[in-house]
Amino acid sequence: MGQLEGKVAIVTGAGRGIGKATAIAYAQEGAKVVVASRTQATLDGVVKQITDAGGTAIGIACDVGHKDQIFAMVDKAVKAFGPIDILVNNAQGFGTEANPQKSTVFVSVQDTDDVELEYTFRTGALASLWAMQAVYPYMKGRGGKIINFASAAGMTGDPGNTSYNIAKEAIRVITRTAAREWGPDGIQVNTVNPFLRTDAWENWEKARPEDVKKYAESVPLKRLGDPVKDGGPLMVFIASDANSYMTGHDFNLDGGWEIHA
Ligand SMILES: NC(=O)c1ccc[n+]([C@@H]2O[C@H](COP(=O)([O-])OP(=O)(O)OC[C@H]3O[C@@H](n4cnc5c(N)ncnc54)[C@H](OP(=O)(O)O)[C@@H]3O)[C@@H](O)[C@H]2O)c1
Repeated sequence: MGQLEGKVAIVTGAGRGIGKATAIAYAQEGAKVVVASRTQATLDGVVKQITDAGGTAIGIACDVGHKDQIFAMVDKAVKAFGPIDILVNNAQGFGTEANPQKSTVFVSVQDTDDVELEYTFRTGALASLWAMQAVYPYMKGRGGKIINFASAAGMTGDPGNTSYNIAKEAIRVITRTAAREWGPDGIQVNTVNPFLRTDAWENWEKARPEDVKKYAESVPLKRLGDPVKDGGPLMVFIASDANSYMTGHDFNLDGGWEIHA
């Protein structure tokens, strides 16, 4: 028996990086997985990888910056697999809707503009809230696990990351608020703050090589984490019955980096 046998999971931003690693790990543990991101072709690749290995998954294209697309995605997920047990709010947009970026763009507090702030907040904080609202009716009374993604950048006030920091810190407070409100329903809501080598990381490294080198060197475990080897097992634990008594908290999946904050 896998640790997530019989569970239904939604993972947003599952086309690559941490979301993809999470979706594959959940399927290996027996969950039926809905992989969601904007690009259907990428999702099809992840679904093929899962089903070729004997797992169960479907890909649903969904831009999390749009509330109607999130509710439609959850609706399709329930029709395909039944009530949702696990929601992973991993997707995060950068830049602006007209000119999306693959990672954060360095902008000072003074120069932060409303359009970028609105898009970053909408695709991060509002998207997480909307997806939580969409799955709540299915978790109420049955319990469930919700995992939101924030960042050490917000917790430490990383300079030049104003819009991202605002969005990510809002996600942490949505987590704590829902953990209190939905605790009586048996719903556990936690946040993961990762520090893992992904495409977003590599784009960030290209844009700010000196800063990123400094951050990477200060990781006490002296290596950058891997989404599959380091991320997968923790993501499975948080979503599993083994995690029976933690809610409203942060899991810092960062090799100890946050100790320096
Ligand atoms: N990597 C790190 O060290 C690190 C550090 C701190 C926080 N985080 C957080 O961890 C999460 C995952 O990061 P990652 O490094 O794995 O990112 P990544 O490798 O860039 O992958 C991002 C995924 O999100 C999808 N996505 C982007 N915008 C979307 C939108 N508007 N709607 C739906 N899907 C969207 C992308 O697919 P499409 O482009 O096809 O939509 C892709 O599948 C994010 O919340 C990020 O902020 C990561």
